Amino acid sequence: TRVAIVFGGRSPEHGISCVSAGSVLAALDPDEFEVVPVGITRQGQWVLASGDPGQLAITDRKLPEITAGSGAELVLRADPTAAGLMVLDPAQGPRALADVDVVFPVLHGAYGEDGTIQGMLEMADIPYVGANVFASAAAMDKEFTKKLCAAEGIPVGPYVVLRNGMTMTEADKERLGLPVFVKPSRAGSSFGITKVDDWGQLDEAVATARQIDTKVLVEGAIVGREIECGVLEGEAGGAPEASVLAEVRVVSGHDWYDFEAKYIDDACEYDIPAGLPDEVTRQVREYATRAFTALDCSGLARADFFVTPELEIYLNEINTMPGFTPTSMFPRMWAASGLEYPKLVNRLIRTALR
Ligand code: DAL
Ligand code: MG
Repeated sequence: TRVAIVFGGRSPEHGISCVSAGSVLAALDPDEFEVVPVGITRQGQWVLASGDPGQLAITDRKLPEITAGSGAELVLRADPTAAGLMVLDPAQGPRALADVDVVFPVLHGAYGEDGTIQGMLEMADIPYVGANVFASAAAMDKEFTKKLCAAEGIPVGPYVVLRNGMTMTEADKERLGLPVFVKPSRAGSSFGITKVDDWGQLDEAVATARQIDTKVLVEGAIVGREIECGVLEGEAGGAPEASVLAEVRVVSGHDWYDFEAKYIDDACEYDIPAGLPDEVTRQVREYATRAFTALDCSGLARADFFVTPELEIYLNEINTMPGFTPTSMFPRMWAASGLEYPKLVNRLIRTALR
């Protein structure tokens, strides 16, 4: 099976995508898969990248980066009649990279996890790992994730949507209370998010989020534990399956689960499985699979929740291409559920080809 691993990309999560791809590349069985590593620069240029996982790790607190000079330039052709991938290496001849069986877009955020590359692959009639166009777009957008999940009876926390130019009213502020989290509606890895403890900080926080997305969400902070659940599309068309749960605890000097705590500072402790009462575990897993269906997901997703001291459960968000980095929860939750990393990657690709 010839598989294109696509990574990097135009979103602020470029570097995280590279680290995720490094882990995926390391897990692919070379006897089973012939890999075409395709990097996308921050400017959107496609290059034939190195498939060496060693070059896709975080070193000295620096994230890897795909640059234009780092590999042969590729040409894109969206051609459903070509019976192959439309990623071509002009230097090697027009069909050098054609006939890829499946694409694994290990891309996070805009132009990767939001339905755009999925639409391009649909146009070209190429199978790909993960969510379809609609589910990708819906899960990328925190407003619509909440609306669709709430409509299916999954509890979500209080929030306000600030479209371009809008500000919070006094009634909004009273309803949410402090602190709040101000977030770009479409982003990931905590980019652009500010915790606001004083309304005097709100305008600056909204401006920060607007640098990433014109639409901003202000969420009332839910005091609770961070609980995550991996979901996989059922085998042979069956119901989606939930992994064991993980709890993330932020320690050593970080106030919340921000970018540095997630990836750089080694500032988190993880419990897998999470220590929760059986009934709460059951309910979180049920909400996770219900959210997967509510958003019409396929392949995989990670659903993130808060569980309060009173054991109330709130959905925070859904990620249709969750991190695959060495510290990422999704592969670790599945390993703890009995699906080791290579088996997980294998299953994702097999599902895409079904
Ligand atoms: N957006 C990051 C990669 C995650 O959800 O894991
Ligand atoms: Mg996310």
